[in-house]
Amino acid sequence: MNREITQQLLDFLQKSPSPYHAVANMAKELEDHGYRCLYEEEGWELLPGGRYYVTRGGSALIAFALPGRPKPESFQIMASHSDSPTFKLKEAPELLVDDRFVKLNVEKYGGMLMAPWFDRPLSIAGRLLIRQGEEIQGRLADAGRDLVMIPNLAIHMNRNANDGQSYNPQVDLLPLFGGREAKGKLMTIMAESAGVSPEDVVASDLFLYNRMPGTIWGANEEFVSCGRLDDLQCAFASLKGLLAAEANPRRAMVHCVFDNEEVGSLTRQGAASTFLKDVLTRIAEDLSMSREENLRALAGSFMVSADNAHSVHPNHGEKADQVNRPYLNEGIVVKFSANQRYTTDGASAAVFRELCRQAEVPCQTFFNRSDMVGGSTLGNLSNGQVALHTVDIGLPQLAMHSPYETAGVEDTASLVKAAAAFYGADIAIRRDGCYRVSLEKGSGRP
Ligand code: CO
Repeated sequence: MNREITQQLLDFLQKSPSPYHAVANMAKELEDHGYRCLYEEEGWELLPGGRYYVTRGGSALIAFALPGRPKPESFQIMASHSDSPTFKLKEAPELLVDDRFVKLNVEKYGGMLMAPWFDRPLSIAGRLLIRQGEEIQGRLADAGRDLVMIPNLAIHMNRNANDGQSYNPQVDLLPLFGGREAKGKLMTIMAESAGVSPEDVVASDLFLYNRMPGTIWGANEEFVSCGRLDDLQCAFASLKGLLAAEANPRRAMVHCVFDNEEVGSLTRQGAASTFLKDVLTRIAEDLSMSREENLRALAGSFMVSADNAHSVHPNHGEKADQVNRPYLNEGIVVKFSANQRYTTDGASAAVFRELCRQAEVPCQTFFNRSDMVGGSTLGNLSNGQVALHTVDIGLPQLAMHSPYETAGVEDTASLVKAAAAFYGADIAIRRDGCYRVSLEKGSGRP
């Protein structure tokens, strides 16, 4: 069962080399399960019990299932992100070297580990904006084959290579694309992959990705490795949980995947944007909820911000907190930070732990060492737009922001199970301090 879900995760990662692909794949799966596509530019006519999704920028997605009653009492939201650190192609990227090589001009997208990008087959995927008569349309593009490589400098030419190497992205990280004859070929290859003609390409958003397929490994096949586990592992589990959840009779279930988390979330489709607020507001207005009813629903809502967490590293146990030490295959990690880089507080941790206890899903905890500054995530940024009771969680992993990350085979299933329980649960918040958590459908008192 757990291995089967992990295999499904690998299939999803394999066909999602860019955020645009991840969102397109989620949209397809939602449609297969009866979710209807809505567009922000058009009117919505929502019906109680209806299932819908809306995308923004082609790289962020919000899906929601409404309760059968005329107005939802609250929203139960799980948020994750579609993007991962990589390199983005600049305009006119082909650079000729010594009239022999063509390499590509790229820039960093997010904060990646650079060293593991060397000496491995890479490819290019993203979207093309193409001219169709008087329209400009987006098309997915994926070269889908070993296309570029970033070769290391030999140890003989860099004797300090193993003594704390630093990399200059404008010098060291430009991928080799071909010999002299490759000049002018890149856009042809990308346009062909999208089924369009290169002359019609007006602009593009193209990224490198690691071609190495995901694998399940270890003495007892207890580990899984692949690119983009952060954070497509959580996005995948959130989607599977939504699709597995029983219809919630009182509360709207909201699956939310933002783009641009790795570059600060302050974009039109990022967690700090109005995307979630706009969708929740439109749901309320479309269902004829008054402003007060909407504010009451928001006050009683709960969000799970799901972004991967650091497992204790087998070679660097000293980097983890002394006591709060998450391990692979030991369940969902609840993330804490006193200065609120994670939104978790006692109340939201208690609600989430109680939910996991009832759903029989294991939980662990993460704190940064007190002398280390960790990463941040979606929850607190999203709260700046729409303030919700929020817990920050994630699945434990190693090598975060490498193009080949490692996680535990058991953990995806734990998050799918917790997500399904969360979406279907009756979480009621009363009088700013009383939280009721029940997996029994519709049994709750108001
Ligand atoms: Co992340």
